Amino acid sequence: MYILGINAYHGGASACLIKDGRLLSAVEEERFSRIKYQAGFPVRAIRYVLEEAGITPHDLAHVGIGRNPTANLLKKALFAFRRRPSLNAIRSRLGAALEIGDLKTVFCDRLGIDPNSLRAQFHNVEHHRAHMASAFFVSPYRRAAILSIDGMGDFVSAMWGVGDDRKMDVQSEVNFPHSLGIYYTAVTQWLGFPKYGDEGKTMGLAPYGTPRYLDRMRKIVRIQKDGTYELDLDYFVHHAEGVTMTWAESEPFIGDLYSPRFVQEFGAPRVPRTEITSYHEDVAASMQVMLEEAEFALVRRLARETGEKALCLAGGVALNSAFNGKILPQTDFEDIFVQPAAGDAGTALGVCYYIYHHLLGQPRTFQMHDAYTGPQFDQASIEAALKEANVSYETLGDEEIIQRAAERVANGDVVGWFQGRMEWGPRALGNRSIIADPRRADMKEILNARIKHREAFRPFAPSVLMEATADYFDQSYPDPFMIKVYGVRPEKRAEIPAVTHVDGTGRLQTVQKEHAPRYWSLIHAFGERTGTPVVLNTSFNDNEPIVCRPQEALDCFLRTRMDALAIGNCFVSKA
Ligand SMILES: [Fe+2]
Repeated sequence: MYILGINAYHGGASACLIKDGRLLSAVEEERFSRIKYQAGFPVRAIRYVLEEAGITPHDLAHVGIGRNPTANLLKKALFAFRRRPSLNAIRSRLGAALEIGDLKTVFCDRLGIDPNSLRAQFHNVEHHRAHMASAFFVSPYRRAAILSIDGMGDFVSAMWGVGDDRKMDVQSEVNFPHSLGIYYTAVTQWLGFPKYGDEGKTMGLAPYGTPRYLDRMRKIVRIQKDGTYELDLDYFVHHAEGVTMTWAESEPFIGDLYSPRFVQEFGAPRVPRTEITSYHEDVAASMQVMLEEAEFALVRRLARETGEKALCLAGGVALNSAFNGKILPQTDFEDIFVQPAAGDAGTALGVCYYIYHHLLGQPRTFQMHDAYTGPQFDQASIEAALKEANVSYETLGDEEIIQRAAERVANGDVVGWFQGRMEWGPRALGNRSIIADPRRADMKEILNARIKHREAFRPFAPSVLMEATADYFDQSYPDPFMIKVYGVRPEKRAEIPAVTHVDGTGRLQTVQKEHAPRYWSLIHAFGERTGTPVVLNTSFNDNEPIVCRPQEALDCFLRTRMDALAIGNCFVSKA
């Protein structure tokens, strides 16, 4: 039984295909279209997951999408009635609804197939149920508390409940316009980071500041006695004017969410690319602490009410790795699973498993151990791409290429590492990565100057052998998806300065031999040479979506000042 899940009309359009409960492929549209976070309808991603399985749309038993326009209709109507939104807001909502249309119609239209020829059943899964399913049903747990937090989807900004084997029981939710995601995005915009997905920059900036404006933030986000939250809407415009979001064939864009009242309180917004002052750092720090207070309130309520020891976390706010790393040490939860595509892309995966388990009652057999669910390229097509680009290369054996790359990294070179299936979710996890030596304090500047061109304050992340994690970090709970920040042990900070953030933390990836053998071997080889079984791992790209095909890897390699490239079993060197 084939089930196709889709995320469309939210950022990170994506497709996921499962067969009899086994995850076959999952991929974001941006990797094919080369437009970051592309929303719209993921035609290329759908084509890929079908081709990879060798099937056509006619083989699908079910097709689902992580949005349900009919969900919460009464709440939406009541809200509209009370608030009397502007005519513009109504018009833009109506326009959006019309453009999106009925799933089956759009699906057939965009893929060029006759609706009458399909046997698949079509499903609209409420947005946060899709998020929740994306975390719980591929987690290791038979029972768990589940929490989804994001900006907004189907009029909801947070939803939680309990997963029990094949079922999810939704207990409660927080409705629009109260939203921690919108709060975080609004302050991020005010800080001069206007692009979709820029929230990670604010999170990186926060540790430089002191949360001296926390009291002001507590006026804006008000934690309720029941552990939920409300926004003081005077500081925002989304409730009155609607969230303006464009999603055509371009990067999604969200209009300003903060109001004149916010500007009155915090001053003029920072103009993008101008100086970042200590004031901006302090506002970022205050916002991060506020978010954590609100999330802790909700997570602790969930622990108390459910009595569960495992937590599954999803939604865009679950990409806040700084908070995620604090959950196990500071709450009663003892286990945690965060799906790598925690943002909206992940709803495609959630939809598949929601249909398979919750709706169809099929048994649980699959567990997500790795995020390598995207396109892969065999040695012949890699060599063809190299020849086409007129690049000279050596072909090495499996062990040789690992040793060569490790040697070059240990010598201070920056090495592109392109292997196997592309990662699902926003992080490169050792298959589409750029690898460098974490022991060199100047490596961050080198990477930024030569390749990544990112803001200087943003940290780079470490990949560490699972078995060495406890030696380097203050927690050793596995995190193969690089979605939690742990403290770097004080005595190790000087050893790996390039991946230790200003507050002594690192957003690590733990690497296990059985789940990522080639990447594990690379880090192990680097450790044998240097005594440090840790590498710096940054995504293989330069202000673009992570590279997908060999051609894109080569383009990025040739236009930046990367020193070498290990692509499949080919080794390319500039020097
Ligand atoms: Fe979402």
